[in-house]
Amino acid sequence: MATERTLSLIKPDAVEKNCIGKIITRFEDANLRVVAAKMIWLNKKDAEKFYSVHKGKHFFETLIQFITSGPLVALVLEGDNAILKNREIMGATDPRKALPGTIRGDFAKGVERMERNIVHGSDALETAEVEIPFFFSERKIFAERNVQTS
Ligand code: CMP
Repeated sequence: MATERTLSLIKPDAVEKNCIGKIITRFEDANLRVVAAKMIWLNKKDAEKFYSVHKGKHFFETLIQFITSGPLVALVLEGDNAILKNREIMGATDPRKALPGTIRGDFAKGVERMERNIVHGSDALETAEVEIPFFFSERKIFAERNVQTS
């Protein structure tokens, strides 16, 4: 199995609900390792850049408004098949369709608004390769091989 890295965002709704730790536990329990982490409040310009693939879509403005409404936690997760595994743990993008036992199914239960879906995760290797450097330079990612002993 391939070791991959994926970008995860614990979004402002999750931060507001005080469940950062519980969400990270879900990742760790699935053998995904946090190799980079930071809390950041995105400004409009950066949010529009991060979500530029959705520019022009009907939900773009509400998505940008929401993602800039408070701080979020950005993580790099590393592990076997990290991208697909993370997507399975997160559950369906639409909180109304996310199954119980998934992060969105449990933490966005009863939520009607699609942008308020608790977490974001890279959807493919090529996306992760763009999304990870958006938040972290390589030297801020502490995979086992990067750990200094001196
Ligand atoms: P995320 O994984 O962060 O990727 C893009 C986000 O856009 C997605 O999660 C949702 O929060 C949001 N989104 C996608 N589709 C819709 C939609 N139809 N209406 C509102 N928000 C959407």
